[in-house]
Amino acid sequence: MKKLTQLNEWQTLQTHYKTLANQRIADWFIQDPNRFQKFSLSVGDILLDYSKNHLTPETLCLLTNLAEAADLKAKISDLFSGKSINLTENRPALHMALRDTAGTELHVKGHNITKDIQKTLQQMHDFTEQVRNQIWRGSTGKAMTDIVNIGIGGSHLGPETALRALNEYAAPHLRCHFISNIDGTHLHEVLTKINPETSLFIISSKSFSTPETLTNLKTIQAWLSHGLNTTDLSKHRVAVTAAPQKAKAFGIPEQQIFNFWEWVGGRYSVWSAVGLPLALMIGMPHFIAFLNGANAMDQHFQTATFSENMPVLMALVGIWYINFFDAKSHAIIPYSHALNDFPKYLQQADMESNGKSITREGDPIDYTTGPILWGEQGVNGQHAFYQSLHQGKHLVPIDFLLAASYPKKYPHHHNMLVASCLSQSQALMQGKSLEMILSELMSQGFTQEEAKQLAPHKMIPGNRPSNTIFIKKITPFNLGSLFALYEHKIFVQGAIWNINSFDQWGVELGKQLLPPILADLTNHSIGLSYDSSTAGLIYHYKNTREPS
Ligand code: F6P
Repeated sequence: MKKLTQLNEWQTLQTHYKTLANQRIADWFIQDPNRFQKFSLSVGDILLDYSKNHLTPETLCLLTNLAEAADLKAKISDLFSGKSINLTENRPALHMALRDTAGTELHVKGHNITKDIQKTLQQMHDFTEQVRNQIWRGSTGKAMTDIVNIGIGGSHLGPETALRALNEYAAPHLRCHFISNIDGTHLHEVLTKINPETSLFIISSKSFSTPETLTNLKTIQAWLSHGLNTTDLSKHRVAVTAAPQKAKAFGIPEQQIFNFWEWVGGRYSVWSAVGLPLALMIGMPHFIAFLNGANAMDQHFQTATFSENMPVLMALVGIWYINFFDAKSHAIIPYSHALNDFPKYLQQADMESNGKSITREGDPIDYTTGPILWGEQGVNGQHAFYQSLHQGKHLVPIDFLLAASYPKKYPHHHNMLVASCLSQSQALMQGKSLEMILSELMSQGFTQEEAKQLAPHKMIPGNRPSNTIFIKKITPFNLGSLFALYEHKIFVQGAIWNINSFDQWGVELGKQLLPPILADLTNHSIGLSYDSSTAGLIYHYKNTREPS
């Protein structure tokens, strides 16, 4: 197979870049009043405007040619048919099956997974009904008021992000907390707010061996035993895992273990029982709507031609900047309080998937892959990092996210929020020329000399690209579509870069190095194998630690 950079389609894009690099996006809007119509599309209630990008119709054509040459069609088909595309772990990536509520029969290694999925959905349904309707009672006979999810990474970020977005759908008589960090401060913050008699802990861990989660589990077990004055914690703990035997070994009753499977990647697991805290809070019908929304995006992704395919277009525009404009990062900027956690959720989804330097065949890669993904609420960002977006040296392509519907309370704030987003994307694209600033300053009474000195500092180069994703309303269905949109965008980029987007070996080394350091923090002397920095920091900690 030819290397990506040796493909004609890649090289044509390199030449095309040279003809385009100095052109201005704003000029294209003047030349073509229909540019917005040409470079935008809707899938259900989600509008993607990608017109404020360094793109012409020719660019799009060349990018879709690259996707064809990289065999994207076949790779999408391999993904959905359950081929073991995660080569290093010899497993498929079938999170889409979890949201195929039509129940299309699918087999993994000869086993019918559709039945397993439906069984767990039913178990989730029954359990959520019991808890929400206060039938489920704790060991002292009281109904649950607080759900606490103990889990990290994929066993935390999806449900927390989705719950925050769908907070208006949450049961008013339940509160939900997420403990992910091993920092005792986090645990303390939650445990001081809740009552053991009315608290239900969900231990969520695909492997059921993640040290942070297991340490938190042991601590909460002791806290529960002490608070309830019993060792029978059965009504206060359930588990979500792909390793049910390990959960059983912790004394979690079998019927309170919600299974998921090795073919669900951790960062793609919100659609499985990992979504249990979300389902408990918003109710199973809304959780099913969340799955249906993702399924609608799956259908679109599988069937739309590349030039009208939202995830494919977003992926190609990203590749255009990363590989041809040398952009190193990508910002996700929601103008939506509900989507506050979305950048952090996508950080795992994108960077754990595509932060790779080796091809699927194991060869070193000579082109850039997944970007540094970051982001924060837009209006707050305007008063923090936007200075750099407007005048800094880095090219940062941005996805702006916003919703058209507004809260009933304080509705007049929403126009201001939307206007803030649109004015920023406009400012980033248009910029402000030196000439404009000079004449503005002189009309304000500055002398020519003063104006000349000040103007370069005030000049805004513009020509900075962005997508705008406009969601009609943040409903469970639309949120499901949004999550799936990004999942598929990430998949397409990984497919074109020819990497395995479904493993995460990079996180393993740190895990291996932790136990000896942990032991040496309490040992009398420390091991000899450390570099002087690590050894120095261990001694520094031992000499300075004190309870606070
Ligand atoms: O360390 C990374 C990781 O393996 C993620 O991929 C995963 O989502 C997270 O840890 C938590 O893993 P688990 O669900 O097995 O506890």
